[in-house]
Amino acid sequence: MQTHWWRDAAIYQIYVRSFADSNGDGEGDLNGIRENLPALAELGVDAIWLTPFYVSPLADGGYDVADYRDVDPRFGTLEDFDALLASAHELGLRVIIDVVPNHSSSAHEWFREAVAAEPGSPARARYIFRDGKGPDGQEPPNNWQSIFGGPAWTRLKRPDGTPEQWYLHLFDSEQPDFDWTNPEVHEEFDGVLRFWLDRGVDGFRIDVAHGMVKEQSLPDIVEGTEAGMLDGSNVLPYFDQDGVHEIYRRWRSLADSYDGDRALVAEAWVEDSSRIARYLRPDELHQAFNFEYLTAPWEAGRLREVIDSSLAANGAVGATTTWVLSNHDVTRHVTRFGGGEQGLRRAHAATLLMLALPGSVYLYQGEELGLPEVVDLPEDALQDPTWLRSGGTDRGRDGCRVPLPWKRDGASFGFCPENARPWLPVPESWGELSREAQRGTEGSTLELYTRALRLRRELDALGDGSMTWLSAPTGVLFFEREPGIGCAVNLTGETVELPASGEVLISSGPVTADGKNLSLPSDTAVWLRA
Ligand code: NOJ
Repeated sequence: MQTHWWRDAAIYQIYVRSFADSNGDGEGDLNGIRENLPALAELGVDAIWLTPFYVSPLADGGYDVADYRDVDPRFGTLEDFDALLASAHELGLRVIIDVVPNHSSSAHEWFREAVAAEPGSPARARYIFRDGKGPDGQEPPNNWQSIFGGPAWTRLKRPDGTPEQWYLHLFDSEQPDFDWTNPEVHEEFDGVLRFWLDRGVDGFRIDVAHGMVKEQSLPDIVEGTEAGMLDGSNVLPYFDQDGVHEIYRRWRSLADSYDGDRALVAEAWVEDSSRIARYLRPDELHQAFNFEYLTAPWEAGRLREVIDSSLAANGAVGATTTWVLSNHDVTRHVTRFGGGEQGLRRAHAATLLMLALPGSVYLYQGEELGLPEVVDLPEDALQDPTWLRSGGTDRGRDGCRVPLPWKRDGASFGFCPENARPWLPVPESWGELSREAQRGTEGSTLELYTRALRLRRELDALGDGSMTWLSAPTGVLFFEREPGIGCAVNLTGETVELPASGEVLISSGPVTADGKNLSLPSDTAVWLRA
């Protein structure tokens, strides 16, 4: 049967700035990625997703794009991008890239033109400018708050200092929101998508995919209902509006006009799974990140609930389900699951669980090394806009963006050439977590990922398909993938005995099995073949 590559792919997220620095400026770059692609092929992933590498002041790590059709000199050149894409394809790795359509950088040519133009002008109509409320328009047009803290509106000043209109930014003040009621914005993004599709990318991860369309009257929200990062629990006039679906129908037909099975993936913080499934109708996007799964606690009942509801909702529209534990916006899961040895043990079990579920998985760089969140970065090193916008009360997301350790030794453990200083300090203890230290080391996180990904590829039962729950004590997740591959995960806090015949294919920790019964310690997962 012909299938689409993304339906069962393991996709590895590269946070470009923190992956590998080839030129010694302290920041990762495209050549650093290209040089290290063989390590990712060896790991056994099917595709990579690159976070934004476009021209940007990096006010929000590159999610503030000043030119959608060029590479920031810090990260390389368009030629470097082409070379990276060609090398990835030679190794059999697909490449998806980020598209950031909700907002641009304030350094984007369009925004500069808008600021220089008059209220009501066509240049202003590409963004959301409004007069303020109250005497002299001193108050913002409504009470929306930025996801990063503080008001979602900033007031412009004329060169002589006279205040004038306000503009909307759901994120940082350097990230003005586009006005998607303007056809020019649609045309511009058609062009951006084509630019990269023509170069040969295999798809796009769509940033804030639920955010582009705002309720026309821009109504106030009920105080206290504003969304946080990845939080889709409230109905808001700026998220998940019906109009976004028209954009995706247009993008889908554009993607379908290209050969090569290009994929569109939504970053949409929308609850619950039935709302997410609306983005995955047959004429819209192919996949969406499963943030309900990412945010589920390490608790059997809740995990089972999310697994069931995700599969049901996605299945109803014929879409594949995705599974994800970490990304560049959230605390790394080793730390979320309790940190230390317990966090790592749970993280290993969670990985085997995720890789056994039907659908595709997103892995975040460094999770294959078991990296924890860095919680003690010096304050003067913090760069996430959240830190300043929250008045220093929220340290933001830098702790999950610390550069990767490649080697056991050296000042940055191989992230940069010697003598260069990484943009965020790499903890001294990370030499032992480096790829070099873990490669070929029995019991290491890297070996677990490598073996599990290889097995997942080899076993027809894994990846796309269905699953059946098997009976098990409360607190144990036990299911079968056809034909005859089982996965059991113990979240009870104690060792459990399961009647399970068959061979142990892989386990996240020591288990004992005699062909009839399985003794499964707490926070441990196992794959079995009947
Ligand atoms: C989601 C991205 O993942 C995050 O890093 C960024 O800050 C926001 N979108 C705004 O673009």
